[in-house]
Amino acid sequence: MDHPVVLIASKNPHKIEEMSAILAGSGIRVLSALDFPDLPDVEETGVTLEENAVLKAESVFRVSGLACVADDTGLEADALNGEPGVYSARYAGNGATYSDNVKKLLSELKNVPSDSRTARFRTVIALKTERGIEVFHGVCEGRILEVPAGTGGFGYDPVFRPDGYSESFAQMDASEKNRISHRGLALQKLSLFLTENPEYLLKKSI
Ligand code: IMP
Repeated sequence: MDHPVVLIASKNPHKIEEMSAILAGSGIRVLSALDFPDLPDVEETGVTLEENAVLKAESVFRVSGLACVADDTGLEADALNGEPGVYSARYAGNGATYSDNVKKLLSELKNVPSDSRTARFRTVIALKTERGIEVFHGVCEGRILEVPAGTGGFGYDPVFRPDGYSESFAQMDASEKNRISHRGLALQKLSLFLTENPEYLLKKSI
């Protein structure tokens, strides 16, 4: 029997790797936007993570006709009133690199003492199929380190230490990060939903 297919609406290899690791375990054939180089990039014009995740999943579904999952993630620092939040990817400006964004975050938090460096990663994942749209949330609480630590992961991982751990995300191995991370938790909910609703990925017969 053919496995049901899900297309990850992202060209970010780190995200694709994390998402595939969890979804592929549920007997799903996982493709990504990297398999379809002609898919247009979707501009994140929403003002919430949920709007952006839904926008990406719906746009890529419309073009590809395949069941799509899209995630949008933000890092919220309490001392910065929840910034960078939905603007995490362009915190240091349009076209900013991971390193530019981390530098800007550390500079904004320069005089903030350790106790007040609480923060969280928040992920929203949208699943769009011909049966409709479903949304899954994942949150990981932690704090922003004063100095980057570790070389694994991506984005803000070197400066984020999840609560209850002595290492940053960038110092953890991928499977450990996936088990506790914002994206991992949202994906576990998506995975459970697909296990309980297998018809969701099957094409409706007309
Ligand atoms: P987006 O979901 O691609 O819009 O990501 C927003 C920003 O957060 C980007 O700069 C990412 O690099 C960063 N980001 C997303 N997920 C993670 C993560 O799991 N760890 C660290 N940074 C992340």
